[in-house]
Amino acid sequence: MVNYKDLGLVNSRELFKKAVKGGYAIPAFNFNNMEQMQAIIQACVEAKSPVILQVSSGARKYANQTLLRYMAQGAVEYAKELGYAIPIVLHLDHGDSFELCKSCIEYGFSSVMIDGSAHPYDENVALTRKVVEYAHQYDVTVEGELGVLAGIEDDVVAASHVYTRPEDVEDFVSKTGVDSLAISIGTSHGANKFKPEQCTRNAEGILVPPALRFDILEEIEKRIPGFPIVLHGSSSVPQDLVKSINQHGGALKDAIGIPEDQLRQASKSAVCKINIDSDGRLAMTAAVREVLADEPSVFDPRKYLGPARERLKQLYIHKCKNVLGSADQA
Ligand code: G3H
Ligand code: 13P
Ligand code: ZN
Repeated sequence: MVNYKDLGLVNSRELFKKAVKGGYAIPAFNFNNMEQMQAIIQACVEAKSPVILQVSSGARKYANQTLLRYMAQGAVEYAKELGYAIPIVLHLDHGDSFELCKSCIEYGFSSVMIDGSAHPYDENVALTRKVVEYAHQYDVTVEGELGVLAGIEDDVVAASHVYTRPEDVEDFVSKTGVDSLAISIGTSHGANKFKPEQCTRNAEGILVPPALRFDILEEIEKRIPGFPIVLHGSSSVPQDLVKSINQHGGALKDAIGIPEDQLRQASKSAVCKINIDSDGRLAMTAAVREVLADEPSVFDPRKYLGPARERLKQLYIHKCKNVLGSADQA
């Protein structure tokens, strides 16, 4: 058993309290490898932003649980070496079982998500409660979820949203004891969040997706004032990245994300954690494709992973400064 405090990590409790009060959201960036982790830490140190390093079960299998523990410890030391000891959380994204959450806690995670949203309500409550009881013994914070996001979530494919029912949130939070709650108000995972026919065109001919359900968010906030709310599926799918990928041999069709101004607006509410994975994937892929297409003789991975890391870093700085408002909050 490794305690996250011995790795220099923090849980999310104090960060969320400050973020709700301060009207900003903490970035939760997914990572699977060293370059992504370096980019996240470089960006958040430069922006002086607290950060949640987020690992899915797939990422954990990909990277290896033991390596991840040392990478997280390395991230803490790396931030110090770069000149600013930002608070760093190591968080399990979409944990689907008690056993997985327990194992992550034993390997040094400071925060876990138990995603019981695909289960009937009572089963979601029971599973989430069980994880909270275990996690809180070690001062590890727990995120639960109510409502289902459209798209692929934990290998469960939902054709459409099941928006969070505001009338459930008080009961869920009090019965489970969770520290934060992920809700469904119209975001979804991946790079294809909306079909073009769901969108309208603005004056410049750009597709504008349907607005997030801020009415549901407001209703939830009324019922659990100040309680930390989490938004998943919050990539904006920058069209310049999609265009570059497609111009350099890619084939991404109908890739549409959540407009950044809506995420900015959400960050000012009790939404205090915003999950971004797909935008990072797009940034890395665009940079790698550009180098490989423009310089066919390159075969040193540093020559394409280096620019990919730099592109990621710039994307994350932009998110902290201009979208989530977390810059200068570390
Ligand atoms: O919400 C899911 C995250 O984007 C992680 O995706 O399971 O492919 O690692 P993954
Ligand atoms: P995106 O696919 O929109 O980046 O969402 C990531 C996420 O919610 C991870 O849990
Ligand atoms: Zn998610």
